Amino acid sequence: MTSRLLLAAALLLTAAAVAAAPNYEGRKKCGSCHRSQLESWEKTAHAKAMDSLAPKAKAEAKKKAKLDPNKDYRQDADCVGCHSTGFNHEGGFDPKEPSKYLAGVGCENCHGPGSEYRLQHRKAGQAFEKKKQTTARQQLAEAGQEFQFEERCASCHLNYEGSPWKGAKKPHTPFTPKVDKKYGFDYAKAVRNDKAMHEHFKLEDVFTGLPVPPFREEFQSKARPAVKGKEE
Ligand code: HEC
Ligand code: HEC
Ligand code: HEC
Ligand code: HEC
Repeated sequence: MTSRLLLAAALLLTAAAVAAAPNYEGRKKCGSCHRSQLESWEKTAHAKAMDSLAPKAKAEAKKKAKLDPNKDYRQDADCVGCHSTGFNHEGGFDPKEPSKYLAGVGCENCHGPGSEYRLQHRKAGQAFEKKKQTTARQQLAEAGQEFQFEERCASCHLNYEGSPWKGAKKPHTPFTPKVDKKYGFDYAKAVRNDKAMHEHFKLEDVFTGLPVPPFREEFQSKARPAVKGKEE
């Protein structure tokens, strides 16, 4: 009897843990509220990263990295992980059913899988609109939102043999500083490249408290007013 109860409790706990684990969903939801960031991001190389895997695209760069410029790499498991959103994760990119909302390096590659924290964005946005009530940012971090981007960038940009980053594992990026030194990655410089992330837009400070990204103040000091959308 007791053991059966324990088993039932264990199953319930597992079910709760599975339900709480955030999934990837793609950029459709994010972009319907954060229209300015979406439109700016769409112009970046990250947004177009899947196109680079098509035959004939970036032929010179591919030859230099000893890749076949005529091959279609868009379903290749050795490539798509870094050129799409959430490959090999729940809800993430599936080469057999390639969703346009998951192709390319999207919102969730940097900000974290969004199925849980986006619900809190909606709730917090409403509380702020109605009652000027703010929400603790800490609960976003607990729901899987990323505030320290460096490791996420490194998992793609510094993922090669002999990399200064300790977490490197296969499949590696073919584009390393050995192929051309322009492929070297300087995080502090790269994260300030608005043409590679997206431009920054003014926040109303709906969320307060730690954790705050180290460069939040710097980016916000130059940010433009945002055009917001309603969730679709
Ligand atoms: C229902 C609308 C809605 C959706 C969907 C949504 N957000 Fe938000 N998000 C908000 C609101 C409202 C804020 C608070 C903005 C402010 O302070 O001006 C916010 C804040 C943020 C912030 C800043 C948080 C901070 O530290 O203050 C980031 C980053 C962000 N959202 C990214 C995303 C991403 C990525 C997704 C998709 C996974 C997403 N949002 C989905 C409404 C939404
Ligand atoms: C999922 C893998 C992935 C993540 C995570 C990622 N990147 Fe990238 N990044 C790429 C790929 C792939 C390209 C090249 C896209 C192309 O041209 O096809 C790229 C391109 C860039 C470029 C060059 C853009 C240009 O115009 O030449 C910069 C700068 C950059 N990333 C910075 C960052 C920073 C900073 C982070 C973290 C905040 C980051 N990336 C996170 C995969 C990633
Ligand atoms: C571990 C992550 C990772 C894997 C795996 C990966 N890439 Fe990339 N790829 C990147 C990053 C990061 C960049 C951006 C490099 C930069 O501009 O500094 C990039 C850039 C590119 C570019 C653009 C290069 C240029 O100079 O414009 C092409 C083409 C490309 N990758 C093709 C591929 C192909 C084909 C594969 C599979 C054989 C592959 N990638 C596997 C991370 C990866
Ligand atoms: C390559 C990484 C990267 C990608 C992809 C990315 N972001 Fe960001 N985002 C950042 C960084 C870095 C910041 C600055 C940190 C901060 O202040 O929160 C930021 C800030 C934000 C903010 C805070 C306000 C602002 O404009 O600075 C929002 C909202 C946001 N991103 C939404 C999105 C949405 C929506 C997408 C997808 C359409 C997206 N981001 C894609 C890296 C990224």
